[in-house]
Amino acid sequence: MTGIDDPRAAYWNENYRKYWQERVAEADTGEQSQVQKGDAPTEGDWVYEKVFAKHPFKSGRLLDVGCAWGRMFPLYRHYGLRISGVDISEAMIEEAQSSHDKQEDIETLKVATAEALPFEDGYFDNLVCVAVFDATYQHLALAEFLRVLKPRGRLYLTGKNNLYAYDDELALAAEVGARSKGHPNYFTDLAAMRLALTKAGCRETATYGFARRGDFATFTHSTDLVAPFYEWFLVIEAPEKPCKSDFPPFSSEFSQTYRDLGAHK
Ligand SMILES: C[S@@+](CC[C@H](N)C(=O)[O-])C[C@H]1O[C@@H](n2cnc3c(N)ncnc32)[C@H](O)[C@@H]1O
Repeated sequence: MTGIDDPRAAYWNENYRKYWQERVAEADTGEQSQVQKGDAPTEGDWVYEKVFAKHPFKSGRLLDVGCAWGRMFPLYRHYGLRISGVDISEAMIEEAQSSHDKQEDIETLKVATAEALPFEDGYFDNLVCVAVFDATYQHLALAEFLRVLKPRGRLYLTGKNNLYAYDDELALAAEVGARSKGHPNYFTDLAAMRLALTKAGCRETATYGFARRGDFATFTHSTDLVAPFYEWFLVIEAPEKPCKSDFPPFSSEFSQTYRDLGAHK
């Protein structure tokens, strides 16, 4: 298989797969991460199962953007969907292919980026992008997601908010740690993104805010999204007509919290 000519790919091809597999494996085992010492655990599959059950997929096709090795595919299989996945990492897609390619419900597994999806307009009924959006050029990725979705298709999207609590030490440590590892990490100005979505004719059908780092893993959430909060999970319905929107940038490499604390020197 050939990779893509994108300078970001190397990071995700190297040690990241092992790291993320270990993080997912320890998701429901204890209070603190052993892989990222002292950090909160990441969210286990049950959290996603809960949201997908409450806000069901439309029947038809689903695209998982940043699918890694296809961790979520067994969850989609349960809904009888035609599954496609893309990931910037060749190593991840190779593993997804060796584990899932023989399954009848797999349509396409490809190396591609969220910002340039190799699919025609209006192809998918559902698009899932979880634990990935914060690594993308968000305004470009969002426009692509809406382009490849059918009218009224469903988008399941998670990310990090640009203003989290000043005393959320785990969140701050994660931001500092990501930067020191060269991990692509962008924080969303959620008010700006939601306004852009509304202007494009989208409808938000579910809203979850997770106040502090670690709350996503325990599904401790609120639905009002009053800042400060750390993570968010939205379910969005695409507009009634085919959508080809350009969005202004609404994310930044440094969170507002980090800047306010004067950590940005
Ligand atoms: C934290 S993992 C999440 C994987 C999977 N969605 C999950 O929840 O287990 C992030 C994944 O996004 C991929 N990724 C990062 N940036 C991307 C981009 N711009 N386009 C597509 N995939 C990307 C990485 O290679 C990695 O597999």
